[in-house]
Amino acid sequence: MAYQAKDYSNLIGMEGFSETLLKNHFTLYQGYVTNTNKLTELLGGKPGDATNPEYAELKRRFGFEFNGMRLHEYYFENLGGKTPLDKSGTLAKTLADAFGSYDTWEQDFRATGAMRGIGWAILYQDDVTGQLVNQWINEHEIGHLAGGRPILVMDVFEHAFITDYGLKRADYIAAFFKNINWGVMEGRLKQ
Ligand SMILES: [Fe+2]
Repeated sequence: MAYQAKDYSNLIGMEGFSETLLKNHFTLYQGYVTNTNKLTELLGGKPGDATNPEYAELKRRFGFEFNGMRLHEYYFENLGGKTPLDKSGTLAKTLADAFGSYDTWEQDFRATGAMRGIGWAILYQDDVTGQLVNQWINEHEIGHLAGGRPILVMDVFEHAFITDYGLKRADYIAAFFKNINWGVMEGRLKQ
């Protein structure tokens, strides 16, 4: 079964994101889908040979390409929100309960995304305890929490913002927050 790239062109026109930036980002995403399929094909159908360095490197690479594909899907899907967060609603209350206050969560999530390096900020829900954690992911594959459900995913690779914001990552994060689809985020939470 080959993975199919999803269409996120509905996001074009989103405030704070130029069409050029979004279209380039969709193209990069499609590259991860293509490469995930390529690796699936190269690695499939036969047992691997652990003494073959080529096999080992392709195997390692799979985590990079697959997560590069899937994280972009989470990211684009949690964007395009049209309404602000209802601060008295269930989601805001869940975040406040987990972090002490809604603002503490938001500040910590922004700080996670502002860290030096390329990668992702992810709000995870631990599938075992239900606990919420803001986590930094290095590149696409390093730092994931086993059994963690991604609730909010923010791309902080330079390609996600440099076209529109130069090096001002904090301004991009502010634009990201204006476009969060809070309903999608709430739907991902396991009660
Ligand atoms: Fe990206």
